[in-house]
Amino acid sequence: MTDRHFDELATRFAEKIYGGAKGAIRLAVLQADLKEALPERPLRVLDIGAGLGHMSLWLAQRGHAVTLAEPAEPMLDGARQRFAEAGVAATFIQAPWQELLGQLNQPYDLVLCHAVLEWLAEPHAILPVLHQLTAPGGWLSLAFYNKDALIYRNLLKGHFRKLRKARFAGEGQSLTPQRPLDPRELAAQLAEHWTVEIESGVRVFHDYMPSDFQAKAELADLLEMELAYSRHPTFAGLGRYLHWVCRPR
Ligand SMILES: C[S@@+](CC[C@H](N)C(=O)[O-])C[C@H]1O[C@@H](n2cnc3c(N)ncnc32)[C@H](O)[C@@H]1O
Repeated sequence: MTDRHFDELATRFAEKIYGGAKGAIRLAVLQADLKEALPERPLRVLDIGAGLGHMSLWLAQRGHAVTLAEPAEPMLDGARQRFAEAGVAATFIQAPWQELLGQLNQPYDLVLCHAVLEWLAEPHAILPVLHQLTAPGGWLSLAFYNKDALIYRNLLKGHFRKLRKARFAGEGQSLTPQRPLDPRELAAQLAEHWTVEIESGVRVFHDYMPSDFQAKAELADLLEMELAYSRHPTFAGLGRYLHWVCRPR
């Protein structure tokens, strides 16, 4: 298995993930967490696997100095275009995470790694690099595809054979990630070098709603309710993605 760069998935990603409520909820939860965690001063930000740059554009518009690193040219081009349309400057690097330590010589106040781990052949291998790229006293904003949510969805759908075989990975051109992460395993891998300060669930109920209720719901209501329950002790862990804001120890 190799890392999945989004060379052919760029358009589908833009439409399917950011074209509707799913993307809006993702941005709302990540932004609420970062507003709470970050100080008012301008920060140096590195967005690893930046995709189309949705989060980095928001940060750049709030006065932060943003560098986007992304291996897939169509994604990085899309990000460049979105920044140009917004009239906002940033640094763009076409590179996978494996090349970043060789190309960047100063750590960043804030490192973003959103929805990337689950596309990597060896997700744990990036963790020491994230640590080296985050300045002491800085922040890591880590969002990942949650294996628990996938198990729960399969239980609700009665997909018991799939569960027995532990067949979770998406295949081929699918936008289902190839490697969902077990939050407890990841927490254990982070424990030595990071303190997790904020833990939120992204889409703790939206994706489980019956589709007719989903279609009828107003976006404003969905956002309000997802934000209200994103840190609920029971529901947070059901988020399709988990967002952890971590500080280096
Ligand atoms: C689901 S997208 C997430 C994009 C963006 N972070 C977001 O949250 O909207 C995953 C991204 O990870 C990128 N990616 C895959 N392998 C990578 C690697 N080895 N290093 C850095 N990025 C990688 C893909 O090209 C894709 O753009």
